[in-house]
Amino acid sequence: MESNIEQKKVIFSGIKPSGDLTLGNYLGAIKNWVSLQNEYDCYYCVVDLHAITVKQKPADLRKRTLEVLAIYIASGIDPEKNTLFIQSHVPAHSEASWLLTCNSYMGELSRMTQYKDKSQKMGESIGAGLFNYPVLMAADILLYNSDLVPVGKDQIQHLELARDIATRFNNTYSPTFTIPEGYVPKEGAKIMDLQDPSKKMSKSEENPNCYILIMDSPEVIKKKISRAVTDSIGIINYSDDQPGVKNLINIICAIKGISPQEVVSSYEGKGYADLKRDVADIIIEELTPVQERVKKLLSDKKYLEEIYRSGAQKASFAANKTLRKMQKKIGLIPK
Ligand code: AMP
Ligand code: TRP
Repeated sequence: MESNIEQKKVIFSGIKPSGDLTLGNYLGAIKNWVSLQNEYDCYYCVVDLHAITVKQKPADLRKRTLEVLAIYIASGIDPEKNTLFIQSHVPAHSEASWLLTCNSYMGELSRMTQYKDKSQKMGESIGAGLFNYPVLMAADILLYNSDLVPVGKDQIQHLELARDIATRFNNTYSPTFTIPEGYVPKEGAKIMDLQDPSKKMSKSEENPNCYILIMDSPEVIKKKISRAVTDSIGIINYSDDQPGVKNLINIICAIKGISPQEVVSSYEGKGYADLKRDVADIIIEELTPVQERVKKLLSDKKYLEEIYRSGAQKASFAANKTLRKMQKKIGLIPK
């Protein structure tokens, strides 16, 4: 009889170490990963090769890569149960990415919204890595025959492309890849910019008041939440007409696991100042233990090294198996 472990469905996801992680990354990605770890065979990757699609200072990249790994663990992702690794430690990702690039079209890649937005801003000087970015992401996902890929809404188009590339490869050669499904966390998990609640909270924003970082101190969190943009209506409703207030309610829901209606009814007759004070306290209560664990983990580089080394070993085993199949089917001579 096959063991249960082999029958578990596979999950792959990753975060780029290209900036300090935000509350959006935590509530929209990492916190969900934690809840999926018992049911699935999970590969959670620090995608450093994706981070270098834009210029990174080498020392910062090294520091952030370890910090993201530490945040995964500190948030409750168990390194014993899951495969935690650094993308560049598994060369199969780069190799598969080239093989898939040769099975992708300029047309489909130029239609990616994220690329179009960036190329509009940067013109001719846009990096070729940004163009190829979704193919590397497809390689990440397909190498592990992932069934499910937890991503935010902004990544759905890239996931669709991975499905297209996989289907094409399967049809051109023979069935090789599992066609992955996206898994978008339910409402409440898209955290918006605190200064402009019409766009998502992002670590690439210039004004730090737009976002909360996972590692922000309690004082900073209080200040940023108190400055969060609301409206002049003055009543706490969960409504698209009040996007700033809606975002604060969503933050409570995502942390506490309660519904917006529950939050709204507990604030009857209260004002924005009360709501903001509580939101800040709830965030601080959630992040403080995570921050403490991150600091502890970062002071024990040996332990982190053990985790990412054994993670890379486990990941390489699975990835190389798929890579060899791809090479063989394409017509490359096995060594
Ligand atoms: P990125 O920061 O673009 O590397 O995103 C890493 C993961 O965090 C992806 O799954 C995103 O969808 C998720 N994420 C990033 N920002 C937010 C946000 N503001 N709200 C919810 N999820 C987010
Ligand atoms: N592109 C994703 C992002 O910006 C990060 C990523 C890279 C990813 N490879 C992946 C996410 C594979 C899910 C699966 O958020």
